[in-house]
Amino acid sequence: MSLVLENSLQEKSFEDMTAQEVLAWSMNAYSSKVALASSFGAEDVVLIDMMVKLNPQARIFTLDTGRLHQETYDVMDAIRGKYGISLEIFFPRTDATEEMVRANGLNLFYESIEKRKLCCGIRKVEPLNRALSQLDAWITGLRREQAVTRTRVEKVEPDSSHSGLVKINPIADWTEAEVWDYVKTNGVPYNKLHDQGFPSIGCAPCTRAVAPGEDTRAGRWWWENPETKECGLHVKQPSSR
Ligand code: ADX
Ligand code: SF4
Repeated sequence: MSLVLENSLQEKSFEDMTAQEVLAWSMNAYSSKVALASSFGAEDVVLIDMMVKLNPQARIFTLDTGRLHQETYDVMDAIRGKYGISLEIFFPRTDATEEMVRANGLNLFYESIEKRKLCCGIRKVEPLNRALSQLDAWITGLRREQAVTRTRVEKVEPDSSHSGLVKINPIADWTEAEVWDYVKTNGVPYNKLHDQGFPSIGCAPCTRAVAPGEDTRAGRWWWENPETKECGLHVKQPSSR
């Protein structure tokens, strides 16, 4: 665990802080070595609004898998326009992507969990690792109520998958209603797919709309079990404690 995190944990409980307090603390503690990972879903646009209001130089990166919806590109542009910020965009490595598609076709993810994870590995996880290699801490829009795999997310935690990094999840305890209340109250641009039954948005071929009352992540990799539905961005390693 980093010294900054260790010292801060002794001073104040992050759990009692508001999202803005957690963000302000993280930008103060890590300065240009902290960035938001944004998929431009509702949670992430909330965080962008808060971060830019706290510091117009706040760093925001995104992983463009090459398989995103047009609506996702549209909201990226709307965000750039409203806040006048530049986004750090990471693409998959061309050689690895070409090799994968040559060997498996473009829609390999439907064939098996292994092939789905291969695609996520090349299109998301490797670019994430490249993005994180420049950072000491990263911010995400993870919320505990999103999935069975996320119920124990803490607002500030050592990143068990990326040794030495701290993971900051300022709205871990927010409900979906609180997210939408913030978006509407603050006039934050959001992905229009949210209005068409998409509560959670990833890559176009791996995301579909959900029926009213269905689980919010039911439309992500809908052919898999809830327990396997992480793409590798947020896999928690077993704690050594
Ligand atoms: S995923 O792992 O299933 O794709 P989800 O869509 O729920 O994740 O998003 C959770 C958080 O992961 C987001 O709030 C964001 O911080 C990060 N994230 C997800 N997808 C991306 C992406 N393409 N680029 C950057 N960050 C992302
Ligand atoms: Fe590939 Fe689907 Fe993963 Fe996107 S979500 S990287 S298309 S398997």
